[in-house]
Amino acid sequence: MIYPDPSTRFAKSRALFARAQGSIAGGVNSGIRKMELPVPLYFSHGQGARLWDVDGNDYLDFQLGQGALLYGHAPAGMADALAGQARLGVHWAAQSELEIEVAERLQRMIPSAERVRFNSSATEVVIAAFRLARAHTGKPLILKFEGHYHGWGDEGLVGFAPPPDRWGDAENPARLHPSAGVIREVLDQFVVARWNDADHLRRRVAQHRGRIAAIVCEPCLCNTGCIEPAPGLLATIRELCDAENALMIADETITGFRFGAGGAQAHYGVTPDLTILGKAIGGGVPFAALVGREAVFAKIIQGEVVHAGTLNANPLCLAASKWCLDTVLWHGPRHPEAITDLGRSLMRGLSDLAARYQVPLQPQGPGLVFHTTMLKPGAEPGAVFDYRDYVRRHHAPRWAHLRRCLLECGVRAIERGVWFVSFAHTATDIEEALRRAEPAFARHATEWKA
Ligand SMILES: Cc1ncc(COP(=O)(O)O)c(C=O)c1O
Repeated sequence: MIYPDPSTRFAKSRALFARAQGSIAGGVNSGIRKMELPVPLYFSHGQGARLWDVDGNDYLDFQLGQGALLYGHAPAGMADALAGQARLGVHWAAQSELEIEVAERLQRMIPSAERVRFNSSATEVVIAAFRLARAHTGKPLILKFEGHYHGWGDEGLVGFAPPPDRWGDAENPARLHPSAGVIREVLDQFVVARWNDADHLRRRVAQHRGRIAAIVCEPCLCNTGCIEPAPGLLATIRELCDAENALMIADETITGFRFGAGGAQAHYGVTPDLTILGKAIGGGVPFAALVGREAVFAKIIQGEVVHAGTLNANPLCLAASKWCLDTVLWHGPRHPEAITDLGRSLMRGLSDLAARYQVPLQPQGPGLVFHTTMLKPGAEPGAVFDYRDYVRRHHAPRWAHLRRCLLECGVRAIERGVWFVSFAHTATDIEEALRRAEPAFARHATEWKA
């Protein structure tokens, strides 16, 4: 049977999710996980490009732990590194040679990484980066872009997903936060600009001249569609930061190591002052780093800016990270070409299936990460260029239906439409994913019309 009854296909996941309601608030440990249809899945194990749920269904996985698993599931080398370190100790809240080894690798890989500090999540690193920027420049405002995600804190989520009826006019995007309970005054410390409009950005900076401490961006926007910077945009940000004596902060939580050893900054040829690293730096363990110019770190070095964390630089995560970074280095110049080629062949295959089944699906992105935009009825085809364009043209409920059909055929993409590939994926995996995807497109085309 091609389309097993979902209520039996996911029976164990359904039962666990029902049981979880009695202990875990809402049944999940991160709000976004509730989006998985028909039910948030429970997994038993993974290997390479594949993941198995508790009902025994296997998936070719392109969700990859929200992008952290650049090395695939359960790589043996990382398991050995973790096991070896676990026998020596997982946590000392003190120094180890490992932390210097990891920091020195980062310096080697990322030219702008003159100094390094570690945390356990990128959300924490965002707190440190914004605090440092304000202390270093003596200015209050952070300029960020609509649709860009910088963790779930009060500061990182300003302007992330404003609803159209409240997003403000195009020249003056509103500073909204999607969560209740945030400190209201925090919103006043932000300026929101639209992505990919350099003239608008210049005007936005001019309106707040002398008060901007930093401009922060995802150098390739991966949290709202997958929208690369327009040519020259990153250079404009750099130029504006220099002219304003503000810091350029690159949030490379997703792009770091995925776009190559030097991240998106090397790929696009721009040098930020501070960089936020997460996800692939730890390959799935809770590990993140702030890296940047030594002069900018001065206030942390002198102790004027507080940077702390009980679990910072714990040897378990360091051992994993050292293995991850060595793996990226081992791939050398084949990275990111190899995963880019694989991602592009997946994008082409999905486009072909979309054309065959008349599904208005547009893959967009550099390949090593991409997004599948589902066009709304009457929406113009063509590349999505910013958050508002994305909201206007992307048909989220229709994508959710196709994503569910794909899941039930053993292909797993991220709920919001992003796809990642890993070092563990092969050309054969991509072919198999596309073979599995065909009945999903066929089912979607039939059911969605109905
Ligand atoms: C660009 C970006 N910045 C920051 C974060 C926050 O990372 P974490 O969930 O590790 O706190 C994320 C997470 O998805 C992200 O994509």
